[in-house]
Order: sequence, then C-alpha cells, then structure tokens
Amino acid sequence: MPPDSETKNAMPKRLYIETVGCQMNMLDSELVVASLRQQGYELTSDFNLADTILFNTCSVREHAEEKVYSQLGRLRRLKESHPEKVIAVMGCMAQKDQKIVFDRAPYVDLVVGPGQLHRIPDLISEIQNGGGRKMEVSMGRRDGSVEQIKRSHESFDPLRDPEMRPSPYQAYVRIQIGCDKFCTYCIVPMVRGPEQGRPPQDIIREAQALADQGCLEIVLLGQTVNSYRYQDGETTVRLRDLLYPLHDIDGIKRIKFVTNYPKDMTYELLEAVRDLPKVSPYLHVPAQSGSNRMLERMKRGYTVEDYRDMMQRIAETIPGAAVSSDFIVGFCGETEEDFQQTVQLVEECRFKNSFIFKYSERPGTRGAELYPDDIPLDVKKRRNNELLELQNRICEEENEKFLGERVEVLVEGLSKQAVNQEAETPEELRSNIVQMTGRTHCDRIVVFEGNRRQAGQILPVAIYDTTAHTLFGTVVTDCVGPEVYSLNL
Ligand code: 5AD
Ligand code: SF4
Repeated sequence: MPPDSETKNAMPKRLYIETVGCQMNMLDSELVVASLRQQGYELTSDFNLADTILFNTCSVREHAEEKVYSQLGRLRRLKESHPEKVIAVMGCMAQKDQKIVFDRAPYVDLVVGPGQLHRIPDLISEIQNGGGRKMEVSMGRRDGSVEQIKRSHESFDPLRDPEMRPSPYQAYVRIQIGCDKFCTYCIVPMVRGPEQGRPPQDIIREAQALADQGCLEIVLLGQTVNSYRYQDGETTVRLRDLLYPLHDIDGIKRIKFVTNYPKDMTYELLEAVRDLPKVSPYLHVPAQSGSNRMLERMKRGYTVEDYRDMMQRIAETIPGAAVSSDFIVGFCGETEEDFQQTVQLVEECRFKNSFIFKYSERPGTRGAELYPDDIPLDVKKRRNNELLELQNRICEEENEKFLGERVEVLVEGLSKQAVNQEAETPEELRSNIVQMTGRTHCDRIVVFEGNRRQAGQILPVAIYDTTAHTLFGTVVTDCVGPEVYSLNL
C-alpha cells in the first residue's frame, strides 16, 4: 500500500467558514459545519490551511455584499496556486446573485441558496471528484422550491455543532422559514422564500435534544417569529401554543424568540410571556420608523399609533419587560419632519437598545421599483448618528437604574477583554480570577470578576457600575441560592 494514500486518508479535511448577517445565518453555519463534520471535516481559523472555504452571506444591505466580494477577491491568488481548494458561497447573497457570483469571482466553485444547504456536503464531494463548478438555488418563490426547502430543513435542522454556538449553553432553534410580509425595502422574502412554520413536534424534539446536551437557553428564530403558525388538522398552532410545551422541558432555563412583527404581538402571546417564568421578558420588535408616511411607503402594515398601543400593551402585561427595535433612516422621501417623528418615538419608547440602519436600496424589491433612493448619504449618516446618540443616552439612563440591584445572570464564558488578553496575569493564575460575562433574563450584558467554572450557571450578581451597553457587578456569595432574593430582571 503506498504510504502516501494512507497518510492522505488519515488527514482530516479542513474547513474555513465566515458568516455575516443575522442569527438565522449563524444557525445555518452551525448546521453546515455539523453536516461537514460527518464527512470528516475539522474547523480551521486560517483559510490558507483549509481544503474548503465557505462564505455564508447576507443581502439585507449592499455593504454586507460588498464585504463578501472583497473577501473573495483576497482568495484569487490562493485559488490560482491551489486549484484543488473548494471555494463556496452560500446563503442569501448566493440566492440573490446566483450566476453573478461566478461573473464577479470566476474562481468560486459552488453557489448554494439558503434552501439547499443540506446539499453542500455532496456538492463539495462532486466538485472534489472533478464534477466542475456547481450552483443550487431556489427557482421561484411559489414553485417546487417551497416543498424542497421544507424537506431540506427537516433533514438539516436536527444536525448541531456546539462549537459554532454563541456559547455551549445557548442554541438557536428555527421555528419558521421565509417571510411573506414584503416590506418594500426588504430583500428577505425574495431570497428566503415563502413563510412556513415548522411542525411543532420537530421543534420540541430539537429543543429536548439540545437540553439533553446541556443547553440552558434556546432562542426561537423566525423573520417574523410571532406570526408563526402551523396548521395541524383542524387546529392552528401559534407561537404562544409552542411556548408552553417548550417551557415544560427539564434543563431548559430560558426561552427567547426573535424577531417579532408589531402587528402580531397579541395579548395572548404577551400573557404567555408573563405567565411562563422561563420565557425572557425581552422582546425585539422592530418599528422601522416613527412616521406614518414612511411606514405606509415601507408597507409595514401598521401605524405609529398601533405601535404605541402595542408598547402600552407590553408595559401593562409584562411590567419591566425590555423592548428593543430596529430603525431605517433615510428611506425614500424621508423628510426632516418624518425623521423627527422617529426621534420622538425612540425618546418615548425607551428601548433597551435599537439597531439603526441607513437605507440601502436593494434591486429586486418593490421599494427599488417604486421610489428613488433620494436621501443623500451625508443626510442618512447625520440622521443615523443623531438617532444612535439618543438611543445611547437612553441605554445609559436605563442601565443606571440597575445600580445597586441584584440580577440573575446566565454565565456564558470569558468576557471579550479576558479572551483578548494574551496571557493571564500572575495574580489571575494564582487566584483563578478572570473577567466573565453573561446576560440577565431581559438580555442585558453583565461583566463580573469570577472563574471559568461558573460558565453555564445562573448566578445572582450585584451591580456596582454601568455603561450604555454593560452592567458591571459582583457575584453575590452570601446566600444559599438565588430564590432567597427578590431578583430584579
Ligand atoms: N436597508 C437598510 N436596512 C434594512 N433592513 C432591512 N432591509 C434594509 C435595507 N434595504 C433592516 C431592517 C431590519 C433589519 C434586519 O435590517 O431594520 O429589521
Ligand atoms: Fe423583511 Fe419585513 Fe419580512 Fe422583516 S418582516 S424579513 S423587514 S419583509
């Protein structure tokens, strides 16, 4: 037997993966990594060492796409000197650009849309066996792709890879695929296909398996997660109906769900959040704008008054709940007055945090067809900064309210600062003390001095300092358990 082939077979194949975009993409990357591990792949953080290089892409804003194309540009030379390496582009940009990816980066071997990810291991093998360049994408929103995407998720979603998760104690669970809302600025309905709820039994089975692996927190994912519905014979299962059986799973301590659609934030759902202690009192409900004229143009399907009513319903049903939002500034035709109405809404709602984006025109959307992208970039930037400054001041003020309070923290691991520190100080090594991080039930980041063994525990922490985005605290050690305190969420 030639010694060479023996060595070659024994060598694990190496995979480099880069992910941009939302939590749905993070989950997709986890599942692709899990499926490739079954083929003997190991992860590497150096693309020079990889046999396969994967980019999981986002199409929501032009900037995210340009970043991927520039990253791909960096691989041209590598591919010239190592033609055997497989370069793959997957996810939303792959679906949107399809052949354009090959035009812009001719050395890419594989383009796979978000509904065909389960095919990646076979496609890579075919390419490695000389099958040539491949592309697998959905054809149209309403053709056979719908069934194909559904089946893809049935086989694909149960695969998991703890190394690819936010932490070993937290995992995403997809409950809904695609989106049917067609907000005029948004490309998602075109690239992720029609909205489909996953069968409740699949979701519950997956959550149970994650709990068995030691996962404490599950985050249910959907583009409009609170619009989730699944027709089971005569009965319609909604998100609130899913929360109860998920809450019954031993081992699961926290349940979150993102992202919500304002119009579907029903009283029944809020009641379930209030009544189920494991469900986090944290709701991400993007408003997008505070101007009815803009909301109408965006085809969001609600008015600012509806949004305010929803905020009031949340405050009345779940006192102390944290709400976060997304905003787009500089959407087509946005006047200073429209923008000031957004400023006013942010001022009023006192969001836990807001993600603020400059409008980026997306070819293929109704918005790009109907309205000119007429707000100059410098105006978009100024509005973005103004709103960000306001939101930061609110974050600072809201976090200050936690000074002297005790919060319950799910400890995720070392803080960013501790991870970045190259070597531990001699004192740290002696005492084992390191900076740890975790989150409160309402999703606030907490940093405290602790030790690595605390990862995966839920601990009471007393807050002694705050900034806009972080609470700093000390673990409370003078108690037998968190239940002896009335803990602030
Ligand atoms: N331009 C800018 N922001 C966008 N978003 C979605 N589409 C666009 C776009 N074309 C934002 C919305 C959404 C978030 C995920 O991205 O605020 O909630
Ligand atoms: Fe895009 Fe609107 Fe669907 Fe959200 S609800 S994914 S913004 S179309």
